[in-house]
Order: sequence, then structure tokens, then C-alpha cells
Amino acid sequence: MRMIDIIEKKKLGQTLSDAELAFFVEGYTKGSIPDYQAAALCMAIRLMGMDSKETAALTMAMAASGDQSDLSGIKGIKVDKHSTGGVGDKTTLVVGPIVAACGVPVAKMSGRGLGHTGGTLDKLESIPGYRISIPTDEFFSIVNSVGIALIGQTGNLAPADKKLYALRDVTATVDSLPLIASSIMSKKLASGADAIVLDVKAGSGAFMKTTEAAYALAKEMVAIGHHAGRNTVALITNMDQPLGCSIGNSLEVIEAIETLKGKGPDDFNDLCIELAANMLFLAEKGSLDDCRKLAVQRIADGSALQKFRDMIAAQGGDPAVVDDYSIFPQASIQREICAEESGYVSHMDTQNCGISAMLLGAGRATKEDSIDHAAGIILNIKPGDFVEKGQTLAVLYTNDPNTLDNAEQQLRASIHLSSVKPQVQPLIYGRVEFE
Ligand code: URA
Repeated sequence: MRMIDIIEKKKLGQTLSDAELAFFVEGYTKGSIPDYQAAALCMAIRLMGMDSKETAALTMAMAASGDQSDLSGIKGIKVDKHSTGGVGDKTTLVVGPIVAACGVPVAKMSGRGLGHTGGTLDKLESIPGYRISIPTDEFFSIVNSVGIALIGQTGNLAPADKKLYALRDVTATVDSLPLIASSIMSKKLASGADAIVLDVKAGSGAFMKTTEAAYALAKEMVAIGHHAGRNTVALITNMDQPLGCSIGNSLEVIEAIETLKGKGPDDFNDLCIELAANMLFLAEKGSLDDCRKLAVQRIADGSALQKFRDMIAAQGGDPAVVDDYSIFPQASIQREICAEESGYVSHMDTQNCGISAMLLGAGRATKEDSIDHAAGIILNIKPGDFVEKGQTLAVLYTNDPNTLDNAEQQLRASIHLSSVKPQVQPLIYGRVEFE
């Protein structure tokens, strides 16, 4: 088999066989296929597309390119959750404990944030002492005894994706639906769960800016899950406003704890219940409606909060943070941002809200940057709210005074006011399962 023939075939819009896609992935991962040929194929795929069967074959080859987690040491149906990323998305911190409190094991590997989006690992690291890196046998033993462990990625999962993603980033081939779907799903399949719930975000703070694009990606990923024998469903959810009110690591963990105490913001609480219900449904805990009720109960009876405490303690963190927020890293500087005029909040450019938090120190512009776990923003407004001139729109938190002016400017530019009450969009646009 020759790489040039594979590129030629895709250039002409023909269908690649499983063997050709496996040849490409294996050769590129090993280094026998050079970057220029891989880049040419990515561009041909970007321009000519791939059908669902090809996308599934590419994904399976990428998933098989490195280690594949074997979760058979954990009892029960293991359900994973993946969000395509957004601003203020701390759902794992609430959904995981709810699901674990229902007796479904949660063995989750999470990632770090980059650019305007946050990552669960950075949030967890704002809990003093919390270990995100633990040996596999201890990881399994915590999941089996406590019911939940949240850690960083271990092993060499989907190295083909790591290499391909870096190449796509510099060859204008990131925005290809089959390449995005295979990239995300290869990592999920290699992580080893039996079933997967996908939270595909749509809107100004998301990778997919429109609901149409989000649906298309969701359908492709659900089909891949099905081909791989993993029961997969996707929710299409609103990322046209930050999720909840807090952006930034320790601020988001505090909001997650408040939600586990039954005092979270409505949008964030409702999304957590829906995601947890879908995970419980895939774990065969009953109908979706039964599972929603179960999820609500586990918050109301305090058992989800207790799971969160137990997980923190098992992973070396200080569980007292749940009751005493002063244990979290604190920002030495706060600045209130007040409305310069009255009006309805008509739109929030969510990506720019995330960038404002990043400028304060909550996120990274490049993978090498360090972060300030105390930095971030608490928003007092949601689209549709009426604000009076002088009313507080948000509070900025940081330890670096030099970041404040830029962050304020960025946040102000992202909040749009209007004299007309806007139509508020739904939190959940829809659900996709395999047809
Ligand atoms: N996230 C991924 O993991 N891969 C992509 O290609 C895009 C977003």
C-alpha cells in the first residue's frame, strides 16, 4: 500500500477502505508517513468529506494507536461523559457525584483548559492537596470503594490524535466534521467506558457556533459509538452564555459545591440533572424520567455532596473545602463592573467572557502557561435580565493588578444591552441517539 494512492483516492472523493485508513494511522503514528503526506490527506478529507463508515474506521484505528484503558477491574456499567468544551462548564464536578451516589461507578479521566475554555483538571487542582495523578490500581480501588475518582489522563491514549491534532492546527484542517468526530471519539473509546454521554455545545462560546453544526457533529459521534459497540447519546446544549455564574477554577468548584447543596444557578443545575439522568439511563437505572427523579433526589438528600467529599478525601484533598470556602486559593484583588446604561441583556459573546477570565489568570493562552486558581469572574446577569445603570454586572477576581483593565474591556465588549427584551434561548436544544 502507498500513501500517495490513498491521498489520490480521497482527492477524487472516493471512499477509503478500513485497511487504507489503518495503514495511514499506523504509519503516521510510527513516523513512517511524513507530515506533508498526512497534511495532504487531512486537506483532502476536509474538502471531500468522509462517510460514516470511513469516519468510524478512522476513529477505531486512532483509538487503537496507543494504550486502551481496561476498566474491567471496576464493577458495573461504566458510563463516561464528554463535553465539547465551553465557558463555565463545571458539570463533571456535579454530575459525577450524583451518578456515583446512584451506585453507578464513575472512573473519569479529564483534561486541562486551553484558550477560552476551562478544564476539569485545573478546577480540581484548586482543591488543596487533591492528587490528579494516581496509580491505576489505586484509581480502580477508589472507584470500587468510594464509587468515583476523577483523575488526569494516564498512559499513552490515542497518540495518533495528539499528532494529527497538532498537524491540523497548523494546516487549516481543524474544522472538518469527520476529523473532529474521530479526534474526540478516539480518545473516548480508548478511555474504556461501556457507554458515553456527549454534551455537544452550540453557540458563541463553543467550537460549533450553530445548532445545525452541533447536531451534525453529535450524529457523527453517536454513529461512531454505535459502530464501536458503545451505547452513546448526545445532548445539544446552549453555549451562547456562560454556564452558571462563575468562570475560573476555584470559583467554579465553589459553584459546583453550592449546586450539590441544592443552591446552584438554575441553568447549571438543570443541565447537570439532565446529563446525570442520561448517564443513569445508559447504566440501566430506569427510564429517563425515573433517572431524572433519582438525580434530583441525590442532591436533595445530600448523598451526592457526600460522594464529592469522600472523593476529595480519597484523592488526598482537604474535604473541609466543602464547608469552608476560605480554604480555596483567594484572589487579593476584586473589581466590580457596573452597567454604564440601562437595558436588557440581549447577548453575551461567550468566547470573549472566557477570554476575559483567561486574561485575569484563570486560563492559558498556550499549553505552557501557568494559571492562577483564584482568578476569574462571577457574573450577576443572564441574557434576558433587565439591568439598571450602575447595577453590578460582574465581579472580576485576580492576583495580578495589571490584568484588570484589559479583562474589564474584554468583558464589557462581550455584554450587549438592548431596549428590547430578547427571546431567551433554551438550555437544551435536543438529544441525539442512534437511529
Ligand atoms: N476537540 C478535540 O478533541 N478534537 C478536535 O478535533 C476538536 C475539538
